[in-house]
Amino acid sequence: MNDTQILELTPSVNWIGVLDPDLVTFDVVMATQYGTTYNSYFIDAEKKTVIDTCKEQFWPVYEAKLRKLCNPAEIQYIIINHTEPDHSGSLANLLKIAPDATVVGTGNAIRYLNDLLGFEFAHLIVKDGTQLGLGNKTLQFIGAPNLHWPDTMYTYLQEDRLLFTCDSFGCHYSHKGVFDDQVGGFDDAFKYYYDVILKPYSKFMLKAIEKIRHLDILMICPGHGPILRTYWKKYFDITEQYATAAMQLPNKNKVLIAYVSAYQNTGKLAELIAEGIRQADPALEPELFNLEGVSLEEVEQKLIEANAYIIGSPIINQNILLHIYQLFAMVNPIRDRNKLAGAFGSYGWSGDVMKIIEQNIQSLKLRFFGESVFIKFSPHEDGYRQCINYGRAFGLKMLEATGCEAE
Ligand code: FEO
Repeated sequence: MNDTQILELTPSVNWIGVLDPDLVTFDVVMATQYGTTYNSYFIDAEKKTVIDTCKEQFWPVYEAKLRKLCNPAEIQYIIINHTEPDHSGSLANLLKIAPDATVVGTGNAIRYLNDLLGFEFAHLIVKDGTQLGLGNKTLQFIGAPNLHWPDTMYTYLQEDRLLFTCDSFGCHYSHKGVFDDQVGGFDDAFKYYYDVILKPYSKFMLKAIEKIRHLDILMICPGHGPILRTYWKKYFDITEQYATAAMQLPNKNKVLIAYVSAYQNTGKLAELIAEGIRQADPALEPELFNLEGVSLEEVEQKLIEANAYIIGSPIINQNILLHIYQLFAMVNPIRDRNKLAGAFGSYGWSGDVMKIIEQNIQSLKLRFFGESVFIKFSPHEDGYRQCINYGRAFGLKMLEATGCEAE
């Protein structure tokens, strides 16, 4: 449904977002079984203000909603809490009908918008703690970087006690009721969204929570999903719990040995490397993880839990296998940065191709162990020794990093 429904939050503030119930994937990879919403808000202050916009494809319905509330030419400020195009995609169109508006965002946000828009626009860069008077209302900006891009901030409308958080405290859940007390249960969507969008940035989530904990909040108004009008504290607490739990990971002793194997040659190498790691210190926990037939969610969970990775593939058609590329797609260079990583595998006649694994390790900001074990066809006595020695050396390097000593 995308009629021109608007919803009043307070006498001065309306939701003018759009519903996208048919969205099946977000950012190409994230399944969205409940669709999503792109929430935007209009503040009818002396200086009329819009908070965030919506995806460009919804501009016609978005414009219609806005025109129900104001003459867009009177808009003075457009606050962009986060520049990903699901929130900023209608900004160019909005600026055409609001030519006197000043775009407000963090330094990163304004830089990104310069590139996204490709034309000059009036702007104001704000920092953590900056206040902006709207005549009879006051906005306060709260730096919340990496939630979920480096540009992110929250905006607090002091007089109405509304906190606008864009991706934070949101979820992909489309329902025409829009308010949390109208849409029914959405806890599973809220957790899934946290896991996929925000979990890698849990450290930043906890910092942001500390900044807003003291605020007098009436509602949390996110950029996706239900507006948290009645149950905002529940979702605030759940988010803190998710972030705190995520910070307990990785397990400093866990080594993920992720591989695929066509004829169990690479699989045998994996077992031998694991044996070498255990020889370095029985406290280390090598985990063999065959990537064949597992979901991307499982792969990501294993990556989160482990403190080091050793990645193995056979060569087929002069390439490593798709499963390994998919694993690399799930590595997050912010979350996983500097984790120790190595490579191994079995090849027939294209040994140099194995270097693809090493190159990916380095480009994703993992800490390359410095050597790899690539064995021609099947391991025999020499190969066994090589793999066990490799595992032992890798384990000792891990102990160095964690400051432990082998017994
Ligand atoms: Fe909803 Fe990171 O955009």
